[in-house]
Amino acid sequence: MAVVYDAFAPFYDIEYGHKEDDLPFYADLADTYGDPILEIGVGTARVSIELALKGHQVWGVDHSVRMLELARRKIRVQRDTVRKRIRLVQADMRRFDLAMTFNLCIIPFRTFLHNLTPKQQISTLKSIYNHLTDDGILALDLFVPLHQVLGKSHWRVSIPPEELNSPDKGITITADIRHDPAGQLLIVQNIYHQPKQKPRRASMRYRYVFRYEMELLLNLAGFKVLSCTGGFSGEPYDFHSGMMCFVAKKQLNSI
Ligand SMILES: C[S@@+](CC[C@H](N)C(=O)[O-])C[C@H]1O[C@@H](n2cnc3c(N)ncnc32)[C@H](O)[C@@H]1O
Repeated sequence: MAVVYDAFAPFYDIEYGHKEDDLPFYADLADTYGDPILEIGVGTARVSIELALKGHQVWGVDHSVRMLELARRKIRVQRDTVRKRIRLVQADMRRFDLAMTFNLCIIPFRTFLHNLTPKQQISTLKSIYNHLTDDGILALDLFVPLHQVLGKSHWRVSIPPEELNSPDKGITITADIRHDPAGQLLIVQNIYHQPKQKPRRASMRYRYVFRYEMELLLNLAGFKVLSCTGGFSGEPYDFHSGMMCFVAKKQLNSI
């Protein structure tokens, strides 16, 4: 069955392959809490490959076959030792069973926001809880629903080729974003304009969450929040923060 990111897959690394700001944050957590590590929404393995290059054992879960195909392609060209450190599994973050426990689970790049209802959010967090060792750690980053954005009902963003990972391809991306405040949803439709080809479209939804809503969700699923920062370098979470990074610890006997 096709899933949302299958349509994004051919363009994902063109748009985000050069994103690096989060890598030291997740690598530091990996060094601190140790292997094995579980990445939820591994995508094209941007983060998992970085962790494996640093010597970590990583399992990556994703439900998009297309994204996993690209991840496999990128892993295949790594050194044998690095390749052997990564294992990919096609599964839905809301319900999976790997028959395995991890010291650290990471959900980079706002992937958690693809849970569109409280039921899905809790189901994902509980699935992760069940895959963590007794004092296992969960870390994730999200965008902040900024007050400037919440006042709008729809807007358009254009990304020119020079801001993309492969400017030589001449692709321009237009993102039309619709805001449904009642559902806390941002509905994004990307149009990929490619030279001499028909434009391609891909659409996805994010359910945004507020800081204390996320803390409550984590608590409900059995986690204690250790920190919420406004960036990947421990910046305080404040009025100016465009993102939230959570680190939470599994609590025993809480669910
Ligand atoms: C924003 S991308 C992040 C990819 C990668 N972690 C990175 O940082 O580059 C989100 C990923 O989550 C995956 N995803 C979305 N919903 C999912 C679900 N229900 N179960 C598993 N993976 C999911 C998508 O297929 C996509 O690969």
